[in-house]
Amino acid sequence: MSPSSAFLFSSLLVLSLIYSHGNALSSNYYENSCPQVEDIVTQVITEATKKDKTVPAALLRMHFHDCFIRGCDASVLLNSKGKNIAEKDGPPNVSLHAFYVIDNAKKAVEAVCPGIVSCADILAFAARDAVVVSGGPSWDVPKGRKDGRTSKASETRQLPAPTFNISQLQQSFSQRGLSLEDLVALSGGHTLGFSHCSSFSNRIHNFDATNDVDPTLHPSLASTLKGICPLKNRAKNAGTAMDTSSTTFDNSYYKLILQNKSLFSSDQALLSIPKTKTLVSDFASSKETFFKAFAKSMIKMSSINGGQEVRKDCRVVN
Ligand code: HEM
Ligand SMILES: *[C@@H]1O[C@H](CO)[C@@H](O)[C@H](O)[C@H]1NC(C)=O
Ligand SMILES: *[C@@H]1O[C@H](CO)[C@@H](O)[C@H](O)[C@H]1NC(C)=O
Ligand SMILES: *[C@@H]1O[C@H](CO)[C@@H](O)[C@H](O)[C@H]1NC(C)=O
Repeated sequence: MSPSSAFLFSSLLVLSLIYSHGNALSSNYYENSCPQVEDIVTQVITEATKKDKTVPAALLRMHFHDCFIRGCDASVLLNSKGKNIAEKDGPPNVSLHAFYVIDNAKKAVEAVCPGIVSCADILAFAARDAVVVSGGPSWDVPKGRKDGRTSKASETRQLPAPTFNISQLQQSFSQRGLSLEDLVALSGGHTLGFSHCSSFSNRIHNFDATNDVDPTLHPSLASTLKGICPLKNRAKNAGTAMDTSSTTFDNSYYKLILQNKSLFSSDQALLSIPKTKTLVSDFASSKETFFKAFAKSMIKMSSINGGQEVRKDCRVVN
């Protein structure tokens, strides 16, 4: 290769890397421009959690939803505008709440470092802090995400559904560069929070041609869930805690899976192939192993790129 073609080749390589991977994230991105940012966010999340114990689960779920649609670009935070219906007003939005917490964090950050920190980074910090305040592991969040300018309700169809089997889950994760190990570790987010009846009703009513109830669901849990979620005349916000300690981040989710007591088909599906089943057993028997894997996979998920700008207001594009 001649020097000039080598130069051209390497320039093209650099360009294609920039376009295919978006903004390079780094650990020290705000070191000079806003060194206090993480402390500010942590304080807001801690205060909000004291007032409302459901906040950490909401923030963790919100970050997952954000990263799985258009990358971690805060598209989940945008409001609908004119004829455009945003993600937050799309079908599986029952579990989205506590947007005000991100607004408060953004306000506090803007007061100190105006126009510097993206909403996508604030949400990534908030998700990490949500895990930490709930007793889970901490990790160094890569920084430098940019906020996107598009949010479409129709795209929430790209989220994995709770009815997914293992091959559908694997496909959904691998499309985003995430492995089966990431799938099992990140599903551990279901140690926090609440689920509405609609998310598991497939397992307790008209399951298939021969079974009313999913035979892989423990009979005692099935009858409890049927009591909470009758086929008719169910209370509007009916549902149940995700696990037995739903404000504590621990490995009880995996212990429940092994007892056939997980809520979603997608949770139970982790037992259906040896590779993921082994990981479920590993995480059920060691909280430390789970915590390490969770932190590692959160860094991967939260590095899925998207976005072009640093929004002034997390709910509207600049
Ligand atoms: C593996 C694919 C996944 C599926 C199919 C899935 C599905 C769901 C569903 C259906 C709900 C309940 C919504 C409701 O009825 O209110 C939920 C809640 C939740 N999910 Fe997932 N999820 C997945 C992965 C994740 C990941 C990767 C995380 C984070 C690391 C996560 C964190 C949460 C949390 C914290 C809640 C509780 C939200 C709250 O209480 O506000 N999920 N998920
Ligand atoms: C969910 O979407 C409906 C309309 O589709 C909207 O009225 C509601 O406010 C949304 N919920 C949240 C939490 O944004
Ligand atoms: C998973 O579901 C898809 C779509 O319904 C189906 O085609 C596939 O065979 C299922 N895979 C397994 C392992 O059950
Ligand atoms: C879980 O369900 C399977 C059948 O799908 C059964 O073989 C197994 O014994 C059950 N385990 C427990 C702990 O109930």
